Amino acid sequence: MEGKRFFVVVGTRPNFVKAAPLMKELKENSKINPVLVHTGQHYDYEMSASFFKELDLPKPDIYLGIGSGTHSEQTGKIMIEFEKVCLREQPDLIIVVGDVNSTIACSIAASKLLIPVAHVESGLRSFDRTMPEEINRILTDQISDYLFTTCKDANENLIREGISQNKIFYVGNIMVDTLLSHLPKIYNSNILEMLGLKRNESMKKYAVLTLHRPANVDNSSILRGMLDALNSLSKKVVVIFPAHPRTIQMIQNFEMNEIINYRNKIASYDFEKEKKVIFAIPPLGYHDFLCLMSKAALVLTDSGGIQEETTVLGIPCLTLRNNTERPVTVKEGTNVIVGNNPKKILKTALNVLKDVIREKKAPKYWDGKTAYRIVKILDRNFKEMPKGKK
Ligand code: UD1
Repeated sequence: MEGKRFFVVVGTRPNFVKAAPLMKELKENSKINPVLVHTGQHYDYEMSASFFKELDLPKPDIYLGIGSGTHSEQTGKIMIEFEKVCLREQPDLIIVVGDVNSTIACSIAASKLLIPVAHVESGLRSFDRTMPEEINRILTDQISDYLFTTCKDANENLIREGISQNKIFYVGNIMVDTLLSHLPKIYNSNILEMLGLKRNESMKKYAVLTLHRPANVDNSSILRGMLDALNSLSKKVVVIFPAHPRTIQMIQNFEMNEIINYRNKIASYDFEKEKKVIFAIPPLGYHDFLCLMSKAALVLTDSGGIQEETTVLGIPCLTLRNNTERPVTVKEGTNVIVGNNPKKILKTALNVLKDVIREKKAPKYWDGKTAYRIVKILDRNFKEMPKGKK
């Protein structure tokens, strides 16, 4: 097929959610030929293939099969393989999303070949350089040619870092495109029945937990403190924890298996009879996870995207980090930053459980039309741009 060849790069679970509406919108433009590149940073079925299926993402045109490793190993391997693909395929543009190692690796490789880079979800800053994602965000933005932002403070961050205003486009939040377009399927998921959460009245209130950041799970005393606090919370409400494989790995490494209740399959459990501790299950697919969150009394997380999804769903969210690169979810949404102090986590969670009603308010342009805006801008700008970097 003729048309400009745009590579859309994905590597991890949250990338798939962001790329789906973009691929769909790019395909509808007859002048653009989108090519989906999967680095293979995430490879387990529940972390990758199940998302492709549920999100109607086409099978990747190019799969790099990189897998796990240290940060430099992973980033380096992706750069080496992605450069080969770029040299062979000569894309006109590469589009990267989010802040993961695949994002920075592909941006660097493309940039050095003078292939223009578009970064979706640009300008977010936690101002915490101990987070690998913060390094990825800052560096990707510095070498991108199109910077698509989700909120006003992202634009301000980019301007402060010396990025020229004419490269920055406030387009809204692309994850919300996916969320809104999948709402009927999300509400139709039967995950609550499958887990036994509808078995009796007392199960009506439950909390959802996600935890995977190195700052929280790679240090045994921090992890233990958090799990202890969340076990205390489990005495009041069931805490369901769809666990990232790295967290389960760390819990095993620290020999902490006995302090949580880990079940390696989704089945109907009788929570009245289960131990009143964190109930960990394997990672869930997109629809099931969103459904579980949408009916929860409270979500506790160290993820970035979940802070945004709970804001749109109107579900109280406690962020188990000392900062957020998404302050708009605190200012305008349902997010509260609690850090990893066990006492503070428990106290805030118990307060939130008492105070049920929260108003839904999504920030400007979190409206389901972000992919449309991005493609319109790229289409317009690309016509005027000679091949190679601006
Ligand atoms: C990555 C992102 C993080 C994002 C998260 C979403 C970076 C620096 N981090 O973190 O920002 O929030 O994805 O999930 O890019 N593993 C598996 N199966 C998989 C993938 C990973 O078992 O399919 C295990 C491996 O032990 C691996 C570890 O998880 O070593 C970490 O995976 P990695 O891709 O390095 O980072 P994430 O923690 O997933």
